[in-house]
Order: sequence, then C-alpha cells, then structure tokens
Amino acid sequence: MRPQRIALVTGANQGIGFALVEGLAARLDATDLVLLTGRHPERVAAAVEQVKGTAQVEGRVLDVTDATAVANLAADLQTQYGGVDIVISNAVGPLTPDRTQAEQADEFIAVANGGATAVLRSFVPVLRPAGRLIVVASSFGTLDNLDARVQPFFEDGHTLDQLEQAVEDWRQSIHAGTATEQGWPDFVNTTSKVAQVAAVRAVAATRRTEDLANGTLIASVCPGLVDTRASRPWFDDFSEARTPAEAVQPILDLILADHVDPSTYGELVRDGKVLPYDQRMS
Ligand SMILES: NC(=O)c1ccc[n+]([C@@H]2O[C@H](COP(=O)([O-])OP(=O)(O)OC[C@H]3O[C@@H](n4cnc5c(N)ncnc54)[C@H](OP(=O)(O)O)[C@@H]3O)[C@@H](O)[C@H]2O)c1
Repeated sequence: MRPQRIALVTGANQGIGFALVEGLAARLDATDLVLLTGRHPERVAAAVEQVKGTAQVEGRVLDVTDATAVANLAADLQTQYGGVDIVISNAVGPLTPDRTQAEQADEFIAVANGGATAVLRSFVPVLRPAGRLIVVASSFGTLDNLDARVQPFFEDGHTLDQLEQAVEDWRQSIHAGTATEQGWPDFVNTTSKVAQVAAVRAVAATRRTEDLANGTLIASVCPGLVDTRASRPWFDDFSEARTPAEAVQPILDLILADHVDPSTYGELVRDGKVLPYDQRMS
C-alpha cells in the first residue's frame, strides 16, 4: 500500500537525527513512511534496526555533500510517491578542538552548508501541500553572532546563489589566512549556522504567500544544547544539556502541528519561539 505521508531526515543514524526519526516513527501513523538517511550503509542499516515506533521506517544511503545524490533521491520520491511531506536537513560533519578549524572547515562546510543548500534546492520543489521543510541550525544562527563587518553577506535580500558564493568566499578566506582580519568568527560553526539560517530565509522569502496559503512551513530550528557526538568535545558540563529524545520534542511539535503559525514561517525557532534574526531591524 502506498504510504500516506513521507518523512525524511538527513544525518539520522545517530544523535538528534536518529531521535527525530524515532519521534516521527512514534507520532506518525502505521500508514506513513519515515526515511532514515545517512552517509554510511552499515550505520544506516544498524540505526533502522534500532527504531521503535508505529510508522514504517526505511533506510536510504544519502551523503548530503553529493548534491546530485540529493537531487536524485528527491526525484525518485517524486516519481514513486508524488513528493514528500516532511524533510529535515540535520546532518553535521565532525568538528573537534584537537585539530585546527582550517583543517576541518572544508568537510564541515560541505556537510552543514552544502548539505542544507542541496536539500533546499532539491526537496522544496517536491514538497507536497501542507509540507514541512526544516533545517536543524542553532542559536548561533542569528546575524548578531557575526561581526558587523561581515553581517552584510548574510543579511536578508540575497538569493540562495549569492549566499552560496558568500559561504565559498568565507571558506577560501579561512585557507588564505585572512578570515580573522576580515571579521569572520574563529569558530566555523558560528558562520556556518548563520549561513544555514540565511539560506532558509532566502528560500522562504520567495514562497511565503503560496506556502502559507496551503499550510506549508519552511523554517530553521535550534535544538538547544544536546548531549551528542558533535557537542561532547566542546563542553565539560552536560548537566543542563538535553538528551536527543528531549530536544526533538519541541521540533516535532512544530512540524506536526495542524496549522502553521505564520510568525514562524522562514524563521529560526527554538522551543516554539522565534529567535529574531536581525536585531538591527528591531
Ligand atoms: N548537539 C548539540 O548540542 C547541537 C546544538 C545545536 C545544534 N545542533 C545541530 O543539530 C544537528 C545534529 O547534530 P548532532 O549533535 O545530532 O550531531 P551528531 O551526533 O554528530 O550526528 C551527526 C549526523 O550527521 C551525519 N553526517 C555526517 N556527515 C554526513 C554526510 N556527508 N552526509 C550525511 N550525513 C552525514 C553523521 O553520520 P555518521 O555517523 O556517519 O558520521 C551523523 O548521523 C546539526 O545540524 C547540529 O549542528 C546540535
């Protein structure tokens, strides 16, 4: 039988992505299908085995740095099911304090920014009416986390192509050794998150009226501090951190709400509340 709703999560074999799949599997129906995707076939298969829930769960290998693979999967789902209902761009590459940021920047940016952009480009067009496309970002993703000198690269009004070029210019400045003097933060995750949120805003700005008319939501979210592989090397104290299962509940509440709150459309949302992107505007 053809599934009623199709959901897909990237980078879902562990951490927040896995918890998102488990939460969707628990909260969707037996007639719905959740696609758990990740870059490594064995890790994807092992993760699928661990999911408990009501909805059907299948694994798909998807390396989000391969934009052609992302486009092909979107096209396949369009052909097979007539589109998708819930897409969550969540994947993040490794970033650890024991290596320089410059050494790790290429893979990190390719996964977080190349991946989110590829998902936005390929999956927004196959989103069914009342669909949800969510990018897992963070509270680092507001413009005030950047020095005033580099804020203009990610302020509203840019196209996705222009934002992609800004990310590429920033990446090259890291390798040229000029990033710090230009005003870019030393922690690559900060600029990366601002760029993800900016990309969501750029796509949302082109579709707001039609999306709100049919109940579609495009947004970015902040899960808070969560105890996962990505966060563990950076913090000593996890007493205030959420488990992945706790962190995804507000995200799933946003995704599975019957109605879209227009004030959240295109925005960065944490625990149901919008984090203002550009404080210069308020
Ligand atoms: N943890 C936090 O405190 C926190 C806070 C704010 C925001 N976030 C955001 O939440 C999201 C998930 O983070 P997390 O903490 O759950 O990270 P995580 O535990 O390190 O999991 C990252 C996932 O991304 C996958 N991945 C890496 N490269 C990939 C690629 N090229 N293609 C597809 N998948 C790939 C990993 O697969 P492998 O297992 O194969 O490496 C893994 O499944 C990220 O966007 C992160 O920035 C996290």
